[in-house]
Amino acid sequence: MTASLDSAERMSRTELEALQLGRLRTTLRHAYESVAHYRAAFDRAGLKPEDCRSLADLARFPFTTKADLRDNYPFGMFAVPEDRVRRIHASSGTTGRPTVVGYTGKDLETWADVVARSIRAAGGRPGHRIHVAYGYGLFTGGLGAHYGAERLGCTVIPASGGMTARQVQLIRDFRPDIIMVTPSYMLTLLDEFERQGVDPRATSLKAGIFGAEPWTEEMRREIEERFGIDAVDIYGLSEVMGPGVAQECVETKDGPHIWEDHFYPEVVDPFTGEVLPDGERGELVFTSLTKEAMPVIRYRTRDLTRLLPGTARVFRRMEKVTGRSDDLVILRGVNLFPTQIEEIALRTPGVSPHFQLRLTREGRLDVLTVRAEARPGATPEQRAAAAASVAAAVKDGIGVSVGVEILDPETLERSAGKFRRIVDERD
Ligand code: DLL
Repeated sequence: MTASLDSAERMSRTELEALQLGRLRTTLRHAYESVAHYRAAFDRAGLKPEDCRSLADLARFPFTTKADLRDNYPFGMFAVPEDRVRRIHASSGTTGRPTVVGYTGKDLETWADVVARSIRAAGGRPGHRIHVAYGYGLFTGGLGAHYGAERLGCTVIPASGGMTARQVQLIRDFRPDIIMVTPSYMLTLLDEFERQGVDPRATSLKAGIFGAEPWTEEMRREIEERFGIDAVDIYGLSEVMGPGVAQECVETKDGPHIWEDHFYPEVVDPFTGEVLPDGERGELVFTSLTKEAMPVIRYRTRDLTRLLPGTARVFRRMEKVTGRSDDLVILRGVNLFPTQIEEIALRTPGVSPHFQLRLTREGRLDVLTVRAEARPGATPEQRAAAAASVAAAVKDGIGVSVGVEILDPETLERSAGKFRRIVDERD
């Protein structure tokens, strides 16, 4: 097994840290010399790239935010001449200008390498067939997964998102070993298997590589049991690369290992920006170590997690991201993430994994209603008991009162990719 690991995966921590420092210093110099934004930001902080003499020195450098990327729309953050940019991706975001990212030929190679490494960590091997149901296009999911799977020596089925009935047919006919898809769209596929009268446990699939949105251990159990597969977590974001910044290993399933030879992580206090020691929860921040077209220095992801020691690999792990500051609902002073509701819903008998959170305003009060579908066959009594039990679990566990509606199966909107759990109907 070890023989098939990349050389970086076989390094010691000391070797890895030496590699990181060298690459970090090169990246800081590249950013400072080639991007006006970084030069101005470093100058304002009174810092030169050479002032970074240890990995800890990185904490002295300024953060980069999504607003910085937007202000430099479209290509202002690029650090190479435009004719060296081989690919552009963009994330739509919820409002305003999209965030644009660029890749040189070498960046695309690096990306394929880290995704190949990710698929291998998930149990993928050369010769496996991989069904990619992440969307292809400006979103990094589809193409990122695609080239990584090819790099590993797999056969790719580039299904992209949507056309759910056909996805099921392709899975039945082409017999893939692995599926790469958002966890919420996997649930949509599950419905479709059942609608077509096909046993989802009887497919050729052995593993699923799920990411692009938060999902819980409860959801892992649901997917693993209903499909009879291993479900592992892939993490990434377009600003840093795309999918494959971090990947959970199938043998441990204990949170994604960050591919630290390419992406240097820090966790900071989201309010003060102070770097927190490993093990403490805060906002994840990344500095790219090898990117050419668009190096990022201390990019604030808004994802909340903590850094943990490596297990199956030398690289540090991140705790599964179950919330990002953008998804935080503050309800009458209480903080709540949709994934907390997911955990509760999936632990409640009779409640399916299909749920949405509706925010409304009554007078001056914000009201949150959990709208969850019943499992097929749940009786009216079971549904009433489930509603009471979810409300009580939210009150006890999170400390706030919410409304709960248990709906008929197949009444809520279904995911076709990244799913928005929160429907905000406040003015
Ligand atoms: O979602 C890249 C990706 C594609 C990752 C396919 C994994 C699989 P963006 O559209 O830029 O890129 O969105 C990035 O999605 O900051 C997280 O908030 C969230 N996210 C991504 N992966 C996970 C995950 C892609 N495994 C944003 N768990 C990130 C929780 C995730 N959240």
